[in-house]
Amino acid sequence: MRIDPPVRIRFILLAALAALFLGSLFVWSGVYSVAASRGHFAVTEWLLTFGMRNSVKTHALGIDAPPLDNSDLVTLGAAHFQSGCAYCHGAPGIPISPIAQAMLPPPPDLATNMPPWRDRELFWIIKHGIKYTAMPAWPVQQRDDEVWALVAFLRRLPSLDAAQYRDLALGGLRVPPQSGESLATSETTARAIGACARCHGAGGARPASSLVPVLHGQRAEFIVASLEAFTSAQRASGIMQPVARALTGDDFRRVADYYAALQAPHAPEEPTDTSAIERGRDLAEQGDPDARIPACAGCHGEDALKTYPRLAGQNLPYMLNRLRLWKRGLAPGTATETIMAPIARELSERQIEDVAAYYASGGPSAGASR
Ligand code: HEC
Ligand code: HEC
Ligand code: HEC
Repeated sequence: MRIDPPVRIRFILLAALAALFLGSLFVWSGVYSVAASRGHFAVTEWLLTFGMRNSVKTHALGIDAPPLDNSDLVTLGAAHFQSGCAYCHGAPGIPISPIAQAMLPPPPDLATNMPPWRDRELFWIIKHGIKYTAMPAWPVQQRDDEVWALVAFLRRLPSLDAAQYRDLALGGLRVPPQSGESLATSETTARAIGACARCHGAGGARPASSLVPVLHGQRAEFIVASLEAFTSAQRASGIMQPVARALTGDDFRRVADYYAALQAPHAPEEPTDTSAIERGRDLAEQGDPDARIPACAGCHGEDALKTYPRLAGQNLPYMLNRLRLWKRGLAPGTATETIMAPIARELSERQIEDVAAYYASGGPSAGASR
């Protein structure tokens, strides 16, 4: 029997409408169970995994990985992994939380059970997260540099035992009480500082990773202002925002007073290029009028405003990273960043290296090459 073309089209249309109606009825009826307690059918599970892997591979094409074999990146990544990821994924010596294990899909133990992802694919997963699973996106999308620290750490993770992991992620620091404190205040202070020491150091210890800023000797006003900027998410950092939000009540003031009273510990001896330091000193003291760059010293010296950071003795990789972030266009979020970002954008790469080397070597207080 031959069917008229118009009749055939009408039949197809009707069938499509019926399918749509039945599909909607199925969704509307609630017969499908969204229970995470029951798992997927094997075929659904396979399809979802297959789709997820291919989506990640396709979307990660064209991402260039920076060099990741860098102990500062690995240490910073480990410290954040402990507070931001281990609850779901576990870590050497730390089992996955039973609550996380009941998620569907359950988060895999990344030390023992991770597919052979490329660096760029891990980066994409950590930056964007995975839809319809518990895997979250990086909370601050402009901070690719922070995401790479996690990738660098995941590369190291399978070779770590529990003790090595603890050393890397927690730094094993004890916080000495300040002189003149009562036992009660020194305990609350120790609890608050303890939350910072594994990354920022304490007492005479510098930060474990040089990508983390030295807070010792920084003005309390600047520390409090920075913590407020992280809490309100105006200052972009997926690592510091959750830490700052976890502080309560007087903690801001307490940790700020603690670090402000510390002597800046000595910087590690680095091979110094004295001519770079001299060029950095000139820029810091005189600026570069031709390029409309003001002298740094006016805003970063001892007599500058208390809400501005001191740079003498600051970690070199931290300063390089922050200046380059602004130079590459990180949008300033706070009033103080609005002052600094346009200056950083005018600096050449060589000026960034010179002036950071000058301040890292001690700045005006070093005087070694004078
Ligand atoms: C709230 C729980 C949760 C947190 C927190 C979390 N993840 Fe996940 N993650 C998951 C789940 C669930 C999956 C599995 C997704 C899937 O199989 O589709 C996953 C998958 C992954 C994968 C892919 C692994 C694979 O088997 O293919 C990586 C890599 C990963 N997470 C890294 C991280 C990192 C790094 C952090 C911290 C910055 C983190 N995750 C934080 C739940 C979490
Ligand atoms: C997991 C590691 C980690 C922990 C824990 C941590 N920090 Fe940070 N902190 C960082 C990093 C990384 C930065 C640099 C952020 C950026 O690039 O803007 C930073 C920046 C800061 C700054 C800005 C300093 C400057 O010179 O601009 C302050 C202030 C600060 N942290 C205070 C604290 C305090 C107080 C605590 C404890 C309650 C703490 N941090 C805990 C990693 C950490
Ligand atoms: C007009 C004042 C001003 C001048 C001039 C200035 N800065 Fe800044 N700079 C700031 C302020 C304010 C901040 C704090 C930004 C923030 O984190 O909110 C800052 C932050 C920085 C930081 C990050 C420090 C930290 O601990 O997070 C670096 C590095 C820096 N400046 C380098 C320089 C250099 C190098 C020069 C000279 C070429 C310079 N600045 C000139 C005001 C200034």
